[in-house]
Amino acid sequence: MTTPALASGRLRRAPRAAIAAVGLVSLVAGSVALSAVSASAADDLPATFLSTGSTWKYSDTNVDPAGGDADRIVWTRAGYDDSAWKSGTGAFGAKNGSPTPNLGSAFPVSTVLNQYIDPNAASKVDVPTFHFRTTFDVTSAQLSEISGLAGTVVYDDAVQVFVNGTKVAGLADDRVNEVPPAQQNLTYAGEGLSDPATSTFQVPAAALQAGTNTIAIALYQDRPTSSDAYLALTSLAPVERETGSTAITDVVLGVGGDESQRMLTWYTSKDTAQVAQFAPAAAVVDGKFPVSAVTVPATGGATTSGEFNRVATLTGLAENTAYVYRVGTDGDWSTVHSFRTRAFEGDFDFLFFGDPQIGSSGNIGRDGDGWADTLDVATSTYPDAELLFSAGDQVEHAANEEEYAAFLAPDALREIPFVATNGNHDVGSKAYEQHFGTPNTDRAAGPGSGASSGGDYWFVHKGVLFIDLNSNSRDYASHEAFVRNVVAEHGDEASWKVVAFHHSIYSAGPHATDSDVKDRRSTWPTLFSELGIDLVLQGHDHSYARTYLLHNGDIANPDEQAGADTVTAGPGGVLYVTSNSASGSKYYDLQPQGFPWLSVANQEKVRNYTAVEVTADAVTVKTLRSQANGDALPVNSVVDQVTLQRATDPNAQRLQVTVPEGAPGEFVWSIDGTNGIVDLGTATEQGDHFAAAGSINPIRVTDTRRSGPNWAVSAQVGDFAAGGTSFSGKYLGWTPKVVEQGAGAIAGDRVGSGFDAGEGLSSSSTLGRADVGHSRGSAKLGADLELKIPVDVTDGTYRATLTLTALS
Ligand SMILES: [Fe+2]
Repeated sequence: MTTPALASGRLRRAPRAAIAAVGLVSLVAGSVALSAVSASAADDLPATFLSTGSTWKYSDTNVDPAGGDADRIVWTRAGYDDSAWKSGTGAFGAKNGSPTPNLGSAFPVSTVLNQYIDPNAASKVDVPTFHFRTTFDVTSAQLSEISGLAGTVVYDDAVQVFVNGTKVAGLADDRVNEVPPAQQNLTYAGEGLSDPATSTFQVPAAALQAGTNTIAIALYQDRPTSSDAYLALTSLAPVERETGSTAITDVVLGVGGDESQRMLTWYTSKDTAQVAQFAPAAAVVDGKFPVSAVTVPATGGATTSGEFNRVATLTGLAENTAYVYRVGTDGDWSTVHSFRTRAFEGDFDFLFFGDPQIGSSGNIGRDGDGWADTLDVATSTYPDAELLFSAGDQVEHAANEEEYAAFLAPDALREIPFVATNGNHDVGSKAYEQHFGTPNTDRAAGPGSGASSGGDYWFVHKGVLFIDLNSNSRDYASHEAFVRNVVAEHGDEASWKVVAFHHSIYSAGPHATDSDVKDRRSTWPTLFSELGIDLVLQGHDHSYARTYLLHNGDIANPDEQAGADTVTAGPGGVLYVTSNSASGSKYYDLQPQGFPWLSVANQEKVRNYTAVEVTADAVTVKTLRSQANGDALPVNSVVDQVTLQRATDPNAQRLQVTVPEGAPGEFVWSIDGTNGIVDLGTATEQGDHFAAAGSINPIRVTDTRRSGPNWAVSAQVGDFAAGGTSFSGKYLGWTPKVVEQGAGAIAGDRVGSGFDAGEGLSSSSTLGRADVGHSRGSAKLGADLELKIPVDVTDGTYRATLTLTALS
């Protein structure tokens, strides 16, 4: 009888020649005009429609301006009666109730706000929210020339800005959104700023109208005892529509339906017919984009930020191929970008990133830098990573294109397929779905308002079924129908099933007890267990958490140890992982009471990323610091690592030979312990060869036959294969050993790698044996493996099968 066992060795080397060719193209063709300003149009437009000293109506009397109206933002629209409100010029401010508030020379005050609900009270309590309204005129000629307005606001502690009843900015307003709408006009919010913060926001042209426009601002205080308040709208400047050549921006290489596809999405300044073109990098000659390139027509429409978006799906890609691509139209092409496909089967790594949420700190530049650095660290450490997977909340403000520009700045997003997830900060605008085309998308769950965005979608990558859910919607029936349908159609062929969504249901931070999170937690775990989901990736709580394997939400195996480095997937057991911030824009503290589902939780307030290493037999989820936490915890030190492995293959458990009935005693042999893949790791270059080493899974031999007949266990290995390439099994050698004495066991002879001489283990070789007349008992046999292969073997992750045979 034979026993299959597996061995694998991993080689990683980048094909430098192909990359160099691609880089050349980028230099030659990367000369697209990104902006062009029309001088004639500028004459008709003011520098700004409002400035710090503009006059506003305002309310500082702790009265809800909605006055019980079901529409809580009725006060932000034209026609609202603000005749009873006070009038004043900016900037507005207050400090400790002073008639001459001094917030520093950078923040002069023109109109003093009434700071306290009762100025005469012994213990003074701040007015939680101040309300402001004013108008500005835009002519229809001006409207035709602009794509929108760019606003700059200085505030302490939080603001929401509305134009004609459309919310165009929410700065540090998380806590506003967490209370019921009826309370949102009078509540405390913000992050306790010591000095007023300055932020920019955009007003899309779609929010404007020809004639009089109404702008309204709610200014929130952080807490009842906040010492100061401040508001200055310093500018509201027109943004000219691009004229002249077409500007192509925001190019994203998104994941396709499978390994042979990619989805390209981009923004463009002109509503023209546009295409994507791609070609093998090898077809590039003299730096010219090849005329043989494949052309794919793009679809799309107007964006909420006054531009236009386009989406095109690249199909029919070949494996292990470098490609170049560009988007646009003849005479108006984008920069040339590149990507490469990998083998379409076999092991792979992907990278997972928690809430980049650019702009969340109030400093877009700093958040963008953190995000770019994490991407750089992760892709440098895992240069063969095949997906960049986001946990959602790409930006702080769904409609803020400045935040999107910072998020999309790293070129990795044009070179490695990006997997977008829809977070709570990504809704309230259509910008999420306008920036990220997604394959196989179902928008049944939560179309909700006109500002809802994105949907559920799925794709398959190298045998792994990925399902990405828009958890903003709690239309559970639609989600469930989608997931069931996808698993029914594609689950059987999947080696692993991975679900991702934004709102973690098993986190370690304050969101874990949110009512909406509890709601999802009471609903989804049974579905995931029933459908055999292996891994769930999540974000939202800005801290790291890894659960025990959970079956229907309960700990599947009471013996699982906290922080176990290996867990074994059983029926219905699901591993839930929540990632910490990838950009450093915001962190939440771990909740001191802890939660029963937590195997590991971590919060050090340094940036993280997660590398997920997928093989047929195991998924290793390794979370690393992309930012050092002191000398002891440098960049790429490990926060947590867990390997989710398959339960032992039932075929391997039947590996034994039974002596026929009636025989005195028996001879039995089997794998001792689990028969996971024997990973030889990454081979290292040693002069004229690559070398790797490992050990076989030990073999237990038990022989209780009274006559002590001889026995032997031998083995032979086939070729090592990766995708379409392979090398001979003869390069594998071994040194057998008797790990535990008994049954007269004698180790077989060492067999050296065929790299030096001979046929190695490609020829049948003895692992262990016993001579006639040996004692009865049990032995454990092992062997150290040595792999030596020529340096001209192509890079890749190779696998071979070691077949064991027992003779008795
Ligand atoms: Fe979130």
